[in-house]
Amino acid sequence: MRYPVEFFLALVLTSFAAFGQKTKPALAASSPFPVGAALSPRYLHKHPEYTAVAIREFSSVTAENAMKPRGLSRGRGKYHWSTADSLADFARKHRKQLHGHTLVWHESVPEWVKSFSGDPAAYEAILQEYIFDVGTHFRGKVKSWDVVNEALSDSAGAMRKSVWLTHLGPGYVARSFRYARQADPDAKLFYNEYGVEYDSVKLAAALRMVDDFRQRNVPLDGIGLQMHISISTPEAGIRKALREFARRGLLVHISELDVRINTTKDSLLNETPELFAKQAEKVRQVVRAYVEEVPPAQRFAITTWGVADPNSWVMKFRKKEDYPLLFDKNYRPKKAYFAFLDGLTPNPSSRERAAGRKPGRGGQTGN
Ligand code: XIL
Repeated sequence: MRYPVEFFLALVLTSFAAFGQKTKPALAASSPFPVGAALSPRYLHKHPEYTAVAIREFSSVTAENAMKPRGLSRGRGKYHWSTADSLADFARKHRKQLHGHTLVWHESVPEWVKSFSGDPAAYEAILQEYIFDVGTHFRGKVKSWDVVNEALSDSAGAMRKSVWLTHLGPGYVARSFRYARQADPDAKLFYNEYGVEYDSVKLAAALRMVDDFRQRNVPLDGIGLQMHISISTPEAGIRKALREFARRGLLVHISELDVRINTTKDSLLNETPELFAKQAEKVRQVVRAYVEEVPPAQRFAITTWGVADPNSWVMKFRKKEDYPLLFDKNYRPKKAYFAFLDGLTPNPSSRERAAGRKPGRGGQTGN
């Protein structure tokens, strides 16, 4: 029997389509929870590939810098809204959720606040005004806020030094949440922190803070784990942190994911396929841990801190060559991208764990 030429053409076309889908499914479309990226207006609409990936792959947006106090505040009661608003417009236009980042952060203190002087009541007033103005401006536009970012110090179980701690004492954190709730009663309010997946002292301090807030009815809805990690960050700590916060009934956001492959002291790196494979494995571990440790109703999102390797903050911050994200310099998905997708599907042994059976041969059925 002879087949018409159209038959072969159709076969070729459908297999191409299937191949395309299999190798390049959009991240968010494949995920039962939102997948986000930190975006910067520096690239958005200026680099077509960046914008295309942001639109195609992600369902959530965080402003990398535009919604921080130094991005917004130009003096007491004076604001620069347009850059942040353009990101909010982008999110609305493309039906992505917008996560506000961040209302209070020791690293982002406007110049006028640095040179402000006054008694504690005066400092309290400027903090409250700022949260009120920004919270009401973005009301209805953001789904959520990182209310306070990085209030804890490293490895010491103490509060981090900041202008707010100096003038207002440790109570400024809880009060910021109360002000944020008043400013935007519909927004989910997060405390955002780094390092709790590898610093057990900091994890304990963060858990104490969460427990204290719950006891005092401080309006805290969720926890953001930044998750700036490397290929050698142990999986056990990542799981422990996710499990501990999930146990407390909070929404859990992996809020700034990137995985460094340069674990050397050198500024230059020979980026080998082995390093990219290790990175993929770490991303798979993170996503799988999230799916396994955080109940579905508490999975707020996983957000990567940037889109493609060259836009990552890591190289500037660490002054070292690195490739920490899911897309390469040509905006092509890396091994880590496919590992993210792979991490979304639970592995058989974890299903057995969830069913209360021992992993391994004894627990298997049907083979
Ligand atoms: C970083 C941005 O990526 C940089 O562009 C900026 O120069 C400094 O801030 N933790 C956070 C983020 O909560 O806001 C930081 O973002 C990275 C660390």
